[in-house]
Amino acid sequence: MKYKVLVTRRLPERALDVIRAECDTELNPHDRVLTRGELIEGVKGKDGLLCLLTDTIDAEAMDAGKNLKIIANYAVGFNNIDVVSATKRGIAVTNTPGVLTETTADMAWALMFAVARRVAESDKFLRAGKFKGWGPMMFLGSDIYGSNLGIIGMGRIGSATARRAAGFSMKVLYANPKRVDEKLENELKARFVSLEELLRESDFVSIHVPLTKETTHLIGERELRMMKKTAYLINTARGPIVDEKALVRALKEGIIAGAGLDVYEEEPKVAPGLADLDNAVLCPHIASATVATRTKMAVMAAENLVAMLKGRRPPNIVNPEVLEGKR
Ligand code: DGY
Repeated sequence: MKYKVLVTRRLPERALDVIRAECDTELNPHDRVLTRGELIEGVKGKDGLLCLLTDTIDAEAMDAGKNLKIIANYAVGFNNIDVVSATKRGIAVTNTPGVLTETTADMAWALMFAVARRVAESDKFLRAGKFKGWGPMMFLGSDIYGSNLGIIGMGRIGSATARRAAGFSMKVLYANPKRVDEKLENELKARFVSLEELLRESDFVSIHVPLTKETTHLIGERELRMMKKTAYLINTARGPIVDEKALVRALKEGIIAGAGLDVYEEEPKVAPGLADLDNAVLCPHIASATVATRTKMAVMAAENLVAMLKGRRPPNIVNPEVLEGKR
């Protein structure tokens, strides 16, 4: 008997092949997020669920999917899943770490360049037919080379973002729950500092922490006011880590110079006023969006799903305690 699984959005074929080889697969036929009702209906009778960061998988969804053995998230972040409730029900939860590290770090840099060198704003200007010739005071921005980069969260993506700073002769500061090992610190030439010192000293502050209760609104009005007026905030992690309304005020009032954002508090909505600001570069949550990386993420999520259903340990399990006594 084949296992029954729900895949909440079309994925690269290579990943679907991995799943279809072992499971009866129900695939969201629409090119959109499943509605709550469709999700609840869809998980009924399923052994496995492959879902996205846009699907809220809470206790209600798990109770609807009484046979669920695994929830395989197609993302490294898994704040969309109530892991405590999954663990209570003996459901494994997996994510996709590692494969999107470099691609996401590239995006943090793309946002730094875009906002500091006013790429999006000047592109808009040219397309509007306003470019009448070179001007000495036109679109003056800020240098990245030789400036200070502050990394909040020195995990995989934070380290990869910091590693690129050597090419731009930047000083790297980092704030993290604990100091990373000396070898990595030396390799990255990174100095461990408090969040406050990081905010005061950095020209670019790049966020790389997971979204948890503790990191929600980690950057609010108080923290924005600690930053240099000439500094830029970059967020490729999760929107709710920044108080978006406070950020809009800070950008409007010149409390900081600009922001490069890929994530938002209430995606796909953005805070009122944010989209009107020229000193914000706004991307639609695309930091991992390259063909190669999205394929690797999908295959990884599919392999996690199939491993659990076939009685093997899923390689990227985030709640391994559910396996105790099972194998
Ligand atoms: C993740 O994996 O958590 C990203 O936000 C989506 O690429």
